[in-house]
Amino acid sequence: MIHPILLCGGSGTRLWPLSRKSYPKQFVPLVGTDTLFQASAKRLSGPDYAAPMVLTNSAFRFIVTEQLAEIGIDPGPVLIEPSGRNTAPAILAAALWLSKPDPDALMLVAPSDHVVPDSAAFRDAVNAGLKEAKEGQLVTFGITPTRHETGYGYLELTAAPESCANTSIALKRFVEKPDAETVEQMVASDHFLWNAGIFLFSARALLEAVTAFAPQLIDPVERAVTEAKPDLGFLRLDPEAWDQVDDISIDYAVMEHATNLTVVPFSAGWSDLGDWDSVLRESNPDERGVAISGPATAIDCDNTLLRSEDDSLEVVGIGLENIVAVAMPDAVLIADKSRSQDVKQAVNALKAKQ
Ligand code: GDD
Ligand code: MG
Repeated sequence: MIHPILLCGGSGTRLWPLSRKSYPKQFVPLVGTDTLFQASAKRLSGPDYAAPMVLTNSAFRFIVTEQLAEIGIDPGPVLIEPSGRNTAPAILAAALWLSKPDPDALMLVAPSDHVVPDSAAFRDAVNAGLKEAKEGQLVTFGITPTRHETGYGYLELTAAPESCANTSIALKRFVEKPDAETVEQMVASDHFLWNAGIFLFSARALLEAVTAFAPQLIDPVERAVTEAKPDLGFLRLDPEAWDQVDDISIDYAVMEHATNLTVVPFSAGWSDLGDWDSVLRESNPDERGVAISGPATAIDCDNTLLRSEDDSLEVVGIGLENIVAVAMPDAVLIADKSRSQDVKQAVNALKAKQ
């Protein structure tokens, strides 16, 4: 049995105005009809999969259960973090919870804001890593880089991936978010893949790795789990213990230091919908690179995304090039596509005005 661990604590500010603090991108149908969270839950369901464990915060707890009910999936434990402490504490809490009944429980940790169109191919990739995970390896999933991306982790392989399709390869090292110069060298080499941010390991292997590389997390997270309080079917981690927990991602806390790392290369399509540029890439743009959504019309435009999220609001673009325009009933974003990363500045600017 594989236990899906769905992480949905992020707020996705680069996808404003669609992604909001109270309703972030993973709960919105950005591409297709399911939300990204629903698509992730469906992808990790089936006869070999346990009910998904969800790690989220208090504000999103009912969205989580409502969205799972909509697609007919019963949730496993829904753990509520009193505050965001990044992915390492959240994953450690899940491992501690699962390891009580079964220290060898297999965990498939997945963000809930990615697009992976071919679910069957993804489950095949998971199966390709099962043996290693059972043997105590920390299994990652590797994506062939298609651009110089400094926002991802990079996996250095011991062999070129072409020779090892559908199998797993030992990793030399894991480098989280390298600088632009290093990224350039890595992308030029065929021994590097992007880290998809999805991990497969046993609860035991994760606990051993955290004990070795981030031991300061163990005590407060363990207390937060042991003293967790049930609340309407949710499980609230103890806030006082959680207050003592460091804010650190699993990539920095564990993956950069571990030596028992394996990668399964995955080439069937993966995208981290982090910004509007990536939403445009995933929205089936036409031959001029234009994608529209909702009541929108593009006349003589190139490389442009036009979205209206309001059925009664028509958005029309004429002669636009490299533009992202997203209209909501209460806010409109118009940005140069190359400035997609800067949308979070809009959110900060609006916060400052409040
Ligand atoms: N429950 C919970 N609590 N979830 C969290 C928290 C938290 O405190 N912080 C982040 N998450 C969730 C996010 O919502 C997202 O689904 C996932 O964990 C990963 O966090 P990000 O903040 O999106 O990480 P990243 O994109 O910068 O980097 C990670 O993903 C890349 C691929 O998308 C790393 O693993 C990189 O190495 C990787 O390349
Ligand atoms: Mg991300």
